[in-house]
This record gives sequence, C-alpha cells and structure tokens, in this order.
Amino acid sequence: MTKSRTLRIAAAAVLTVVVAACSSTAATPAPASQAPATAAAKTYTMKDLVVGFIQTGSESGWRAANTSSFKETAQQQGITLKFTDSQNKIENQITAFNTYIQDPQVNVIVLAAVATTGYDDVLKAAKAAGKLVVIEDRRIDADSSLYYTYIGSDFDAEGQKVAKAMGDLLKAAGKTTANIIEIGGDQAASAAIDRHKGFGEGIQTYSDVKMTVLDYQNAPGWDQVQGKAIMDAFLKKYPGKIDGVFGHNDELAIAGIQSAQAAGLKPGKDIQFVGVDATADGFKSLIDGTLGADIECNPLLAPQVFDAALKGLNGDTSTVKWVPSQESQFFAAQGADALKAILATRKY
Ligand code: AHR
Repeated sequence: MTKSRTLRIAAAAVLTVVVAACSSTAATPAPASQAPATAAAKTYTMKDLVVGFIQTGSESGWRAANTSSFKETAQQQGITLKFTDSQNKIENQITAFNTYIQDPQVNVIVLAAVATTGYDDVLKAAKAAGKLVVIEDRRIDADSSLYYTYIGSDFDAEGQKVAKAMGDLLKAAGKTTANIIEIGGDQAASAAIDRHKGFGEGIQTYSDVKMTVLDYQNAPGWDQVQGKAIMDAFLKKYPGKIDGVFGHNDELAIAGIQSAQAAGLKPGKDIQFVGVDATADGFKSLIDGTLGADIECNPLLAPQVFDAALKGLNGDTSTVKWVPSQESQFFAAQGADALKAILATRKY
C-alpha cells in the first residue's frame, strides 16, 4: 500500500468515527443536567459582576452606611460597581435604569426605590435585555417575575415595634391615654408607607395605653431641616397636647427632639421620642436620654445582595423573592454604659 493511500484510509476512518459520534449524540438527548448550551454554561464568579446600582440619594446616616456597604463590599470582592445617586427623584432612577440597560458591560441592576410604583416599563426592558435585577432596601409593587429577589427590611414590623416601644415609654411615664404625632418619610416610599401602617396596627393592640395619632406629616427628604419645620408647626398647632413623637428615621426623630428643646420642653420627660435606623447619631440621643427607643433598620445589605446576584447569574432558581433583614432594637433604659459599649461595636 502506498503512503498516500494509507493516509486517505486513515482520514476516512476518522471521518466515520466523527459522523458516528455526531449521529449518536443527535439520537440520544443529553440528560437535563447537561442540557444548557455551551454559551449559557459559563459559571460566574464575583469578579464577573458588573453592577449598576441605583441609589435613592444621600438623605440620611442610614443611606450613607448603605452606600458604603456597596462600595466597600464591591471593592473587597473585585466587583465592578457603577453608581447613581438619584437625588430622591424617580425620574433620575428611570434614566439610570435605561443607561444600565443599554450598557453592554452591566449584567446586574440593583435598585433602592424612591417610590413603590413607576418601574414596570424599565423592569420589563431590563428583563428583555437579559439584565438581572435585585431590589434592595425598599420593596416595590411590581410583578415579582420582573426581578430576581428583594433584600430589605420588614418596615411594617418596624412600625409595630415602634408602637410597642412608644406604649412602654408612655406607660412608664404614667400615661393611660396619649396623643402621638408622626413625622414620616417620603409618602411614596415603602419605608414610610409600611412603618405608618405597622404603627397604626400596633397602637390598636397595645392595651395599657390608649394611643391616638393626633397628626401625621411627611418629610419627602427624610432630613432634619424638614423634620424640624414639621415639629415646630405641630408644637404651635397642639400646645401642651403632644405626649409622643414617632420619627420615621433618626434624622426626623432628632429634629423633633431639637424642636421640642428649642420650645423649652424636655424630651424623654415631657414628650417621648422613638426613631428608626439605630445610626450612631440615634445612639448618641439614646445615651443622653432624649430618644427613648431606636428601632434598628439594617443598611449593611451589600454582601447579601451580591451573593444573590451571583446565584441569579448562575441560574439558581431556589432564591426566595424576599429575604427580610434581621434587626434589633435599643432603649435609653439600657443605660449609657451599655449603649456606649454596643455603639463601639457598630459600623454606622
Ligand atoms: O429605606 C430606609 C430608610 O431610608 C431609612 O430609614 C431612612 O433613614 C432612609 O433614608
């Protein structure tokens, strides 16, 4: 046999084996576990995450801690983080959504929502563009098939904890009936809507003190300037009638405290104050006794959000649609020394 004929036979034999292998693959489907096409079989690691993070704004100590959590964790894990401060405007959030949808590098969009509604169109567009969406901090009212998961607090439960803490403070002050005012956050935000609802439910079931909400006003900026203006107006409108103040975050509770002090009243004695967040500033007010209780709202959510995003990119369908944060509560009655020791262990 000539050398060239030997090579031709060998080539034909190889071709036969390849054709046989191909037809055998076609005839016998791969098991489901091997089914994904090679293009979809990429396993993502944290370093592959390119996250477009749409933050509400920079309105509070809580928010600063939330933003730091994302920036620090992204840096530690080698994640690329693109960041938008929406200045608490939903139109800025929609623009940012569209920018991240069109950005070919971005594979994950994280939203801290300014409002509960208004995102349906961009959520649909993100899904169509193959971007994984994770909602953090505030829940939204949208079809849950449009996002991968929501990681944030149970604001209704926080409102109920405020009601119980307020009732206990008023009871300890000798009250059996009490007038409360509420200084709320932005009325469109789930944090304000649900805290207000939970508080309303909580005061109904607190039997030792009959609490009545005298008035409720929202501060869209969640900040001390707006909070102080609201409390000043309430003190003028209801002289001598306010027994308790529920500030929807520490800034608003502290604004109420400062306004009461400016009017010659003693917070913790003449009026009971309860806030939400448990930031370092909130702790300082607990320590000096002006704030009676502070209900924790956990801002350090980035590690959970990034873990979930990674699972989502890798096709994990077992993640639940809402992972509520684990949160505590703190009281002036714990005493300055104990509170200082706790504050020293906290990151915000
Ligand atoms: O959504 C969480 C709330 O938003 C915090 O309580 C408040 O401080 C923040 O700005």
